[in-house]
Amino acid sequence: MTKELRGNIAIDGPAGAGKSTAARLLAQKIDYLYIDTGAMYRALTWLALCRGIDLNDADKLCALAESTDISLACRENGDISVYCCGEDITAAIRQAEVSRNVSIVARVSRVRKQMLQKQRQMAATDQVVMDGRDIGTYVLPDAPFKFFLTASLEERARRRYEELTAAGEDVTLETVKEEIFQRDKEDSQREIAPLKPAPDATIIDTSDMNINEVVTMLLNLIKERIR
Ligand code: C5P
Repeated sequence: MTKELRGNIAIDGPAGAGKSTAARLLAQKIDYLYIDTGAMYRALTWLALCRGIDLNDADKLCALAESTDISLACRENGDISVYCCGEDITAAIRQAEVSRNVSIVARVSRVRKQMLQKQRQMAATDQVVMDGRDIGTYVLPDAPFKFFLTASLEERARRRYEELTAAGEDVTLETVKEEIFQRDKEDSQREIAPLKPAPDATIIDTSDMNINEVVTMLLNLIKERIR
Protein backbone atom coordinates (compact mmCIF):
# COMPACT_ATOMS: atom_id res chain seq x y z
CA MET A 1 0.00 0.00 0.00
CA THR A 2 2.88 2.37 0.76
CA LYS A 3 3.57 2.80 -2.96
CA GLU A 4 0.26 4.52 -3.67
CA LEU A 5 -0.07 6.13 -0.26
CA ARG A 6 0.86 9.81 -0.18
CA GLY A 7 0.28 12.45 2.44
CA ASN A 8 0.21 12.83 6.16
CA ILE A 9 -2.19 11.20 8.58
CA ALA A 10 -3.69 13.20 11.44
CA ILE A 11 -5.14 11.43 14.47
CA ASP A 12 -6.82 13.46 17.19
CA GLY A 13 -9.01 12.67 20.16
CA PRO A 14 -9.41 12.89 23.93
CA ALA A 15 -7.12 11.27 26.51
CA GLY A 16 -7.12 7.48 26.59
CA ALA A 17 -8.93 6.98 23.29
CA GLY A 18 -6.07 4.79 22.02
CA LYS A 19 -4.61 7.40 19.65
CA SER A 20 -0.95 6.98 20.52
CA THR A 21 -0.85 3.20 20.32
CA ALA A 22 -2.96 3.12 17.17
CA ALA A 23 -0.88 5.87 15.54
CA ARG A 24 2.38 4.14 16.43
CA LEU A 25 1.26 0.75 15.10
CA LEU A 26 -0.23 2.29 11.97
CA ALA A 27 3.00 4.18 11.26
CA GLN A 28 4.99 0.95 11.62
CA LYS A 29 2.72 -0.88 9.21
CA ILE A 30 2.90 1.75 6.47
CA ASP A 31 6.49 2.81 7.13
CA TYR A 32 5.64 6.36 8.18
CA LEU A 33 7.24 8.39 10.94
CA TYR A 34 5.14 8.51 14.12
CA ILE A 35 5.01 11.83 15.96
CA ASP A 36 3.47 12.01 19.41
CA THR A 37 2.74 15.73 19.86
CA GLY A 38 1.36 15.18 23.38
CA ALA A 39 4.87 14.05 24.37
CA MET A 40 6.21 17.46 23.32
CA TYR A 41 3.78 19.32 25.61
CA ARG A 42 4.47 16.81 28.38
CA ALA A 43 8.24 17.26 28.04
CA LEU A 44 7.97 21.02 28.44
CA THR A 45 5.62 20.60 31.42
CA TRP A 46 8.00 18.12 33.05
CA LEU A 47 10.91 20.53 32.64
CA ALA A 48 8.94 23.50 33.97
CA LEU A 49 7.92 21.46 37.04
CA CYS A 50 11.55 20.33 37.59
CA ARG A 51 12.75 23.93 37.44
CA GLY A 52 9.98 25.18 39.73
CA ILE A 53 8.61 27.55 37.07
CA ASP A 54 5.19 29.07 37.70
CA LEU A 55 3.01 27.40 35.07
CA ASN A 56 0.85 30.50 34.83
CA ASP A 57 3.84 32.62 33.82
CA ALA A 58 3.55 32.60 30.02
CA ASP A 59 6.81 34.56 29.52
CA LYS A 60 8.86 32.07 31.51
CA LEU A 61 7.22 29.07 29.84
CA CYS A 62 7.82 30.56 26.46
CA ALA A 63 11.47 31.33 27.22
CA LEU A 64 11.87 27.76 28.45
CA ALA A 65 10.33 26.35 25.28
CA GLU A 66 12.61 28.54 23.14
CA SER A 67 15.79 27.63 24.95
CA THR A 68 15.17 23.89 25.36
CA ASP A 69 15.95 21.17 22.92
CA ILE A 70 13.12 18.63 23.09
CA SER A 71 13.39 15.79 20.60
CA LEU A 72 11.59 12.58 19.75
CA ALA A 73 13.42 9.50 18.53
CA CYS A 74 11.95 6.28 17.20
CA ARG A 75 13.36 3.09 18.77
CA GLU A 76 13.82 -0.07 16.73
CA ASN A 77 10.62 -1.58 18.15
CA GLY A 78 8.68 1.50 17.00
CA ASP A 79 8.32 3.02 20.49
CA ILE A 80 9.10 6.69 20.88
CA SER A 81 11.82 7.98 23.18
CA VAL A 82 11.64 11.56 24.37
CA TYR A 83 14.78 13.56 25.10
CA CYS A 84 15.24 16.88 26.76
CA CYS A 85 18.74 18.36 26.31
CA GLY A 86 20.05 14.84 25.68
CA GLU A 87 18.41 13.29 28.78
CA ASP A 88 15.96 10.43 28.21
CA ILE A 89 12.70 11.55 29.87
CA THR A 90 10.36 9.02 28.22
CA ALA A 91 9.11 7.58 31.51
CA ALA A 92 9.20 10.84 33.48
CA ILE A 93 6.72 12.63 31.21
CA ARG A 94 4.03 9.99 31.91
CA GLN A 95 3.99 10.73 35.65
CA ALA A 96 0.63 11.75 37.11
CA GLU A 97 2.05 15.14 38.16
CA VAL A 98 2.81 15.94 34.49
CA SER A 99 -0.64 14.73 33.36
CA ARG A 100 -2.31 16.95 35.95
CA ASN A 101 -0.48 20.07 34.75
CA VAL A 102 0.08 19.65 31.02
CA SER A 103 -3.16 21.36 29.95
CA ILE A 104 -2.10 24.54 31.74
CA VAL A 105 1.08 24.67 29.67
CA ALA A 106 -0.71 23.65 26.46
CA ARG A 107 -3.12 26.57 26.58
CA VAL A 108 -0.36 29.20 26.29
CA SER A 109 -0.56 30.57 22.76
CA ARG A 110 3.16 31.33 22.32
CA VAL A 111 4.09 27.85 23.52
CA ARG A 112 1.66 26.40 20.99
CA LYS A 113 3.13 28.53 18.20
CA GLN A 114 6.58 27.09 18.86
CA MET A 115 5.27 23.55 18.99
CA LEU A 116 3.31 24.13 15.80
CA GLN A 117 6.44 25.26 13.97
CA LYS A 118 8.39 22.17 15.06
CA GLN A 119 5.50 19.83 14.24
CA ARG A 120 5.02 21.30 10.76
CA GLN A 121 8.75 21.06 10.10
CA MET A 122 8.72 17.36 10.98
CA ALA A 123 5.70 16.75 8.74
CA ALA A 124 7.36 18.59 5.86
CA THR A 125 10.45 16.40 5.85
CA ASP A 126 8.84 12.98 6.37
CA GLN A 127 5.52 11.29 5.77
CA VAL A 128 4.02 11.23 9.23
CA VAL A 129 1.29 9.79 11.37
CA MET A 130 0.87 12.58 13.91
CA ASP A 131 -1.37 12.32 16.93
CA GLY A 132 -2.62 15.03 19.28
CA ARG A 133 -5.58 17.31 19.86
CA ASP A 134 -5.34 19.87 17.04
CA ILE A 135 -3.54 18.05 14.24
CA GLY A 136 -6.46 17.85 11.80
CA THR A 137 -7.82 21.29 12.67
CA TYR A 138 -4.69 23.35 13.05
CA VAL A 139 -1.27 21.72 12.65
CA LEU A 140 -1.92 19.83 9.40
CA PRO A 141 -5.26 21.16 8.10
CA ASP A 142 -4.43 19.90 4.59
CA ALA A 143 -3.64 16.33 5.66
CA PRO A 144 -5.49 14.02 3.29
CA PHE A 145 -6.31 11.53 6.07
CA LYS A 146 -7.87 12.70 9.31
CA PHE A 147 -9.25 10.57 12.11
CA PHE A 148 -10.79 11.46 15.44
CA LEU A 149 -10.67 8.57 17.91
CA THR A 150 -12.94 8.65 20.89
CA ALA A 151 -14.39 6.27 23.53
CA SER A 152 -16.62 6.48 26.59
CA LEU A 153 -15.09 8.19 29.62
CA GLU A 154 -15.38 4.91 31.60
CA GLU A 155 -13.46 2.94 29.00
CA ARG A 156 -10.79 5.61 28.53
CA ALA A 157 -10.27 5.82 32.30
CA ARG A 158 -10.02 2.04 32.56
CA ARG A 159 -7.36 1.91 29.84
CA ARG A 160 -5.32 4.73 31.37
CA TYR A 161 -5.63 3.19 34.85
CA GLU A 162 -4.24 -0.10 33.55
CA GLU A 163 -1.32 1.66 31.84
CA LEU A 164 -0.45 3.65 34.95
CA THR A 165 -0.69 0.76 37.40
CA ALA A 166 1.40 -1.40 35.04
CA ALA A 167 4.02 1.36 35.17
CA GLY A 168 3.97 1.21 38.98
CA GLU A 169 1.95 4.40 39.62
CA ASP A 170 -0.16 4.38 42.77
CA VAL A 171 -3.53 5.62 41.46
CA THR A 172 -7.21 4.75 41.77
CA LEU A 173 -9.64 4.32 38.89
CA GLU A 174 -11.75 7.20 40.24
CA THR A 175 -8.81 9.62 40.35
CA VAL A 176 -7.75 8.67 36.84
CA LYS A 177 -11.32 9.17 35.59
CA GLU A 178 -11.54 12.59 37.22
CA GLU A 179 -8.13 13.62 35.87
CA ILE A 180 -9.06 12.60 32.30
CA PHE A 181 -12.41 14.36 32.58
CA GLN A 182 -10.77 17.60 33.74
CA ARG A 183 -8.00 17.46 31.15
CA ASP A 184 -10.45 16.89 28.27
CA LYS A 185 -12.57 19.75 29.56
CA GLU A 186 -9.60 22.11 29.67
CA ASP A 187 -8.32 20.94 26.27
CA SER A 188 -11.79 21.33 24.68
CA GLN A 189 -12.55 24.71 26.20
CA ARG A 190 -9.29 26.55 25.62
CA GLU A 191 -9.30 29.46 23.18
CA ILE A 192 -6.48 28.33 20.93
CA ALA A 193 -6.59 25.10 18.97
CA PRO A 194 -9.09 23.32 21.24
CA LEU A 195 -9.66 19.59 21.14
CA LYS A 196 -12.31 18.95 18.48
CA PRO A 197 -12.72 16.89 15.32
CA ALA A 198 -11.83 18.57 12.04
CA PRO A 199 -14.96 18.93 9.88
CA ASP A 200 -13.48 16.44 7.40
CA ALA A 201 -12.27 13.91 10.01
CA THR A 202 -13.66 10.39 10.28
CA ILE A 203 -14.86 9.87 13.85
CA ILE A 204 -14.26 6.41 15.30
CA ASP A 205 -15.67 5.28 18.65
CA THR A 206 -13.17 2.72 19.99
CA SER A 207 -15.10 1.86 23.19
CA ASP A 208 -15.80 -1.70 22.07
CA MET A 209 -12.69 -2.24 19.98
CA ASN A 210 -9.28 -3.62 20.82
CA ILE A 211 -6.17 -1.93 19.50
CA ASN A 212 -5.71 -4.35 16.58
CA GLU A 213 -9.28 -3.72 15.46
CA VAL A 214 -8.66 0.03 15.57
CA VAL A 215 -5.49 -0.23 13.47
CA THR A 216 -7.20 -2.54 10.96
CA MET A 217 -10.08 -0.11 10.64
CA LEU A 218 -7.70 2.82 10.05
CA LEU A 219 -5.81 0.84 7.40
CA ASN A 220 -9.03 -0.17 5.66
CA LEU A 221 -10.33 3.40 5.63
CA ILE A 222 -7.04 4.62 4.18
CA LYS A 223 -7.05 1.86 1.54
CA GLU A 224 -10.62 2.74 0.53
CA ARG A 225 -9.64 6.39 0.08
CA ILE A 226 -6.62 5.69 -2.15
CA ARG A 227 -8.30 3.01 -4.24
O1 C5P B 1 -1.63 12.92 24.13
P1 C5P B 1 -1.34 13.22 25.58
O2 C5P B 1 -2.43 12.78 26.49
O3 C5P B 1 0.00 12.75 26.01
O4 C5P B 1 -1.32 14.81 25.62
C1 C5P B 1 -1.03 15.50 26.81
C2 C5P B 1 -1.61 16.89 26.75
O5 C5P B 1 -0.90 17.69 25.82
C3 C5P B 1 -3.08 17.03 26.33
O6 C5P B 1 -3.97 16.79 27.40
C4 C5P B 1 -3.13 18.48 25.86
O7 C5P B 1 -3.24 19.37 26.95
C5 C5P B 1 -1.75 18.67 25.25
N1 C5P B 1 -1.76 18.52 23.80
C6 C5P B 1 -2.22 19.58 23.04
N2 C5P B 1 -2.15 19.52 21.69
C7 C5P B 1 -1.66 18.44 21.08
C8 C5P B 1 -1.22 17.33 21.83
C9 C5P B 1 -1.31 17.40 23.21
O8 C5P B 1 -2.67 20.58 23.59
N3 C5P B 1 -1.58 18.42 19.74
